[in-house]
Amino acid sequence: MPFVKLEIVPNNFHVHTATHIQQGEVCAGQEPQGTILKSCTCIGFYHHSSKTGAISHVTGFSNDHGHSARGALAILRKKMARFHIELEDCECFLVGGADAVQRVYDGVTEALREVGITFRELDVLGHYHRKIVFDPATGVLTLFKKHGDETLKEAAKTFSSDLTYQCFHDQKRRLITGASLFFRNPMLLSYLTKTVAPAVAAKGHRFHVWCAGCSLGMETYSVGMVLLDWIASSGKKMDLKILGTDISAEALTTASNGIYRVSERAFKEHDKLVAKYIRRVDTSNVQVTPELRGIMAFKERDIREGSRQPLFDLVICDHVLQYFTVDIQMGFLKGLLSGVKPDGFLYVSSPSKEIETTLRNGGNYEVLAKHFYHRKG
Ligand SMILES: C[S@@+](CC[C@H](N)C(=O)[O-])C[C@H]1O[C@@H](n2cnc3c(N)ncnc32)[C@H](O)[C@@H]1O
Repeated sequence: MPFVKLEIVPNNFHVHTATHIQQGEVCAGQEPQGTILKSCTCIGFYHHSSKTGAISHVTGFSNDHGHSARGALAILRKKMARFHIELEDCECFLVGGADAVQRVYDGVTEALREVGITFRELDVLGHYHRKIVFDPATGVLTLFKKHGDETLKEAAKTFSSDLTYQCFHDQKRRLITGASLFFRNPMLLSYLTKTVAPAVAAKGHRFHVWCAGCSLGMETYSVGMVLLDWIASSGKKMDLKILGTDISAEALTTASNGIYRVSERAFKEHDKLVAKYIRRVDTSNVQVTPELRGIMAFKERDIREGSRQPLFDLVICDHVLQYFTVDIQMGFLKGLLSGVKPDGFLYVSSPSKEIETTLRNGGNYEVLAKHFYHRKG
């Protein structure tokens, strides 16, 4: 459970007393600490038990000091070490800057992934909440709203109501640029082996999965690894096929190549699966094995187009719906449902209340666990 709590308030930053850092700086300690981000990005760390926190102000202007993500991480590490705290033992959060300089934010996420630090994205849209204060005593990260800016048409359209998962949107196409990670959703993966795979295997040999909104393919390959491994250890013979679809052709190219820049550390909890299905190409890059790639197909497709036939034993749509309005989510739901076989499974994360109600009351689906549904025969 995350301890950092995001609060968005209408007050002005100037009324707040906190250690104030400038561009390229970092601070750490137990006192409230703040900065004015504008187009920049903040990497924050929080060590809950000692009530110690650290924030940075990454500008991307240069590689010096804390202006770059790597520089900021090195200083953050040093400063937290003074409190005998390792960054890896902290909760890490990001606050993004203006989307005009998304490259700064992307550089930060890349640097964090490189060293295997997982993070939560908090208010990544850079339209109006840009002044922040983090108080380690309470774990509250406060974003101060600039007067009037919330009425901007652009802000209203792009500001997601889910504070945990706001992210950059492509201004032209209104798409989300896809953040994805290997083994991102442990709850989903463990449910697959405990419940879904045994139920599908009990019915026959066919196991077809659709990962809708698969982005760069990390989630799709993670599902593939977990299921291939389950099949191997259960001694069953199954025809496992996984289709990953997305509207981003660029993301799908990465997914099809199956080559990723990932540090060894990022995989540390999954070393057995990784040893079986992933090869290290060089110090920075890994590639999925031909066995794993062999069960995958990636296609450019809008979820709302749906599937012509209900062919899939399992449909997964994770970290997609929450970025959209209820109307759009309803279109997604229709598309997803068109792919689920009778007696098949559906995982759809963070849907709005309306979507959950539709699924609960539609009569065709029973709720198995959080976000997990089973289509009755
Ligand atoms: C945050 S990523 C999630 C990636 C992956 N599911 C995961 O959890 O790691 C969201 C993805 O949804 C895709 N997406 C957004 N709208 C879509 C649509 N209408 N049809 C298909 N994919 C869509 C985006 O292109 C992006 O790659």
